[in-house]
Amino acid sequence: MRLSDQPLISRKAIEARVAELASEVASHHGDGPLLMVVVLKGAAMFACDLMRKLPMPVTVEYVRASSYVGKRSSGEVDVDSLPAAGRVRGRRILLVEDILDTGYTISRLRAGLDRLKPARITLCTLLDKPSRRKTEVAADYVGFVIPDSFVVGYGLDYNEQYRQLPDVYALEDE
Ligand code: IMP
Ligand code: MG
Repeated sequence: MRLSDQPLISRKAIEARVAELASEVASHHGDGPLLMVVVLKGAAMFACDLMRKLPMPVTVEYVRASSYVGKRSSGEVDVDSLPAAGRVRGRRILLVEDILDTGYTISRLRAGLDRLKPARITLCTLLDKPSRRKTEVAADYVGFVIPDSFVVGYGLDYNEQYRQLPDVYALEDE
């Protein structure tokens, strides 16, 4: 496996798009407080950049979910560490994910959060691979729609590697 010679999405493009996403979120949500629920580990870098651009009061919770082993979705999603119900009930939630692929992870997470009775949940994903969807989920805010290739960097990993890269790269077979 090797990284593509050129980034698929450059750090400059990411920075500009994150600012636009923050403006979109702000214009839809207004001034009211927002609870960001960030899906670990992949969305951590994106969420930190996004929250710095949001004008309203923001609180943050982190959830863990994993379905991937190497480059394949196992189809089985582990969700743990949902926030305490008292932190979610009646709140407006922005669920922040790194990438929508089959959609299983977010469907499971959304269902788990729904049971905690938030006022509403909107979904923001940095990347979207709609061609791979296996279940019906659509994000309210999408950074970039990408083709069906495996990508790393800006938080996204391949077997825990490459998360620290500031740009997003495609991972190619040698
Ligand atoms: P889904 O449940 O199939 O939608 O998978 C979503 C999760 O799989 C994301 O949170 C990522 O952690 C991981 N994932 C999906 N596609 C990629 C990729 O291209 N690179 C790195 N991780 C990915
Ligand atoms: Mg992930």
